[in-house]
Amino acid sequence: MAGERGLDGACWIELDEIDSTNAELMRRAIAGERRPLYVRASRQTAGRGRSGRMWHSPPGNIAMSRLVPLDCPPAAVPQISLVTGLAVHRAVAEQLDASGISVSISLKWPNDLLAGRAKLAGVLVEATTAGADRIAVVGIGINVAHAPRVEGRETVALASLGLARADDPATPAALARRVGAHLDRALDEWDSGQGFASIREAWLDRSLPLGTEMSVDTGPGGRVAGTFAGLDDAGYLLMERAGAGRMVVTVGDVALLSD
Ligand code: BTN
Repeated sequence: MAGERGLDGACWIELDEIDSTNAELMRRAIAGERRPLYVRASRQTAGRGRSGRMWHSPPGNIAMSRLVPLDCPPAAVPQISLVTGLAVHRAVAEQLDASGISVSISLKWPNDLLAGRAKLAGVLVEATTAGADRIAVVGIGINVAHAPRVEGRETVALASLGLARADDPATPAALARRVGAHLDRALDEWDSGQGFASIREAWLDRSLPLGTEMSVDTGPGGRVAGTFAGLDDAGYLLMERAGAGRMVVTVGDVALLSD
């Protein structure tokens, strides 16, 4: 399908099928694309998740990515995950609200959207240098019609919460545009890191409750357990460890302790 400009001026490319919308935007960036372009695909054949995992996005779910030309200090790049998670939360909450559905959704560091304890959406931010420029590709996957199984994780789809039934083909497209509008706004608010304080506050308003029991896989160092204690000023995870004080987690996969 051809590219098109949305009502808000953002440029969208809608595809029936692609390996990965993140990979597609990376290719376009390397070929010289610099616009804040969106790509959405009805189906991905090689969707990428965090930590090298596969991300399954069958028709009916949302797989979308946005190109973000970078003009921020390198240390601020991980904040884009939080900016994006916030935008996804705002868009989904707005949609649930508009449909009169009352479900508790929350953010889990760095970028999962949960309904209860089940994963509803994930974000993958990949950054690279293209020519003289630094760019990021922000990928968003939302379980709209289907909740693909993920080893060791509970997953859920919006359809099972009463929203966006599988027989409504227009809904993933409409929700994707809503997510895009919120993402554009949140990136403006972030202002290449200068506005991170307000993003952090808004993110914490929508996060799992402080004190939630969790563990973090820190790689070869193993897994450490503790309770959620918020975010530091840079956006890193704060975790309270019984008898061992507060630790700052800069990278890792978080699991809720009963996962
Ligand atoms: C995660 O592991 O939670 C992140 C999942 C991110 C999936 C999205 S779907 C659209 C974009 N294209 C990809 O290949 N991955 C991201």
